[in-house]
Amino acid sequence: MVPFVNLSAMHAPLQAEFERVFREIISTSAFIGGRAVADFERAFAHFCGVNHAVAAGSGTAALHMALAACGIGPGDEVITTAHTFAATVEGILHAGATPVFVDVDEETYTIAPEQIEAVITPRTRAILPVHLYGQCADMEAIGAVARRHNLLVIEDAAQAHGARIGDRRAGSFGDMACFSFYPAKNLGAFGDAGMVVTNDPEKARIARLLADHGSPDKYHHTLLGYNYRCDALQAAVLSVKLPHLEAWNERRRRAAARYTEQLRDVPGVRTPRARFDHIYHLYVIRVTQRDALKSFLGQRNIATGLHYPVPMHLQPMMTGHPQARVGALPVTERIVGEILSLPMFPDITDAQVDEVAAAVREFLEKS
Ligand SMILES: Cc1ncc(COP(=O)(O)O)c(C=O)c1O
Repeated sequence: MVPFVNLSAMHAPLQAEFERVFREIISTSAFIGGRAVADFERAFAHFCGVNHAVAAGSGTAALHMALAACGIGPGDEVITTAHTFAATVEGILHAGATPVFVDVDEETYTIAPEQIEAVITPRTRAILPVHLYGQCADMEAIGAVARRHNLLVIEDAAQAHGARIGDRRAGSFGDMACFSFYPAKNLGAFGDAGMVVTNDPEKARIARLLADHGSPDKYHHTLLGYNYRCDALQAAVLSVKLPHLEAWNERRRRAAARYTEQLRDVPGVRTPRARFDHIYHLYVIRVTQRDALKSFLGQRNIATGLHYPVPMHLQPMMTGHPQARVGALPVTERIVGEILSLPMFPDITDAQVDEVAAAVREFLEKS
């Protein structure tokens, strides 16, 4: 049996620490906001190399807060990809703006920067790249387009805690960036949590207001806000885990290197291309007989995932959108039928990687 992720192995050595911080919060009864949240915001901003971090209730809330804090709303267009989790697009739609989809790069699966300029209109306000699977989008190329056209850049870094380009980390490239701490993420809470980061103090101030009912002081509401706050218990868990993130990412990189080494010469398998530093939130291969391979691995008790089987422009929720038709995004539409996420977590053993790789090889050599 090889599970897709195993969080208990990661948490077991930290159990006493978790219990200590939980006891502390229970004794103070500061369950929402307070010191635990402020401490984690400070630590995470420092980790990303930015000046401000505003904790949120989820990555989805963080995306909505960031877009709204940038003043993006009805009539505005935001350029992004359809090869992502629904929350990227929900953030844009909940802000009242229109998503405009650009195809992904055939090798990295992140937004193809050379295709962005063609879809810019007078209504375009921002580019929202997704650092998919744990690798940053090409932020230098995206930044250059944004500067030429005076557009904001908002990073969806929900899958990329700590991923670097050169010496800069995900979250430090755009005007704002959003993270998710969903439990299975490289840095995960014990429930939902998220974060907005930025170097712009005014955008941080507005994001913070939006997250807490638009309220700078109790019962005074200067903006129409939301309840998008982060629980103290989640922030405390994340503060315990953050110092271990780099080591966990490194163990993921090592497991990925082992997969890639063993799958390199298997006919018909395309292994991930790490153009930049990759933290392997997901290790995603491509094969044309994807569904058959998935069920073969399932019969061997090897769990796999699909990230994601239906691109956003073809989801029923997007009916009526100008790009909601087959053929609009050819690379995206082709790869969604070929991608397969293999088991990946910091505690995956060499024996488990070898077992998965051997099963993939056996299937492809037979077929
Ligand atoms: C790319 C991407 N964006 C946004 C989100 C939303 O985060 P959350 O589940 O914390 O709301 C996720 C994760 O779920 C994600 O993978």
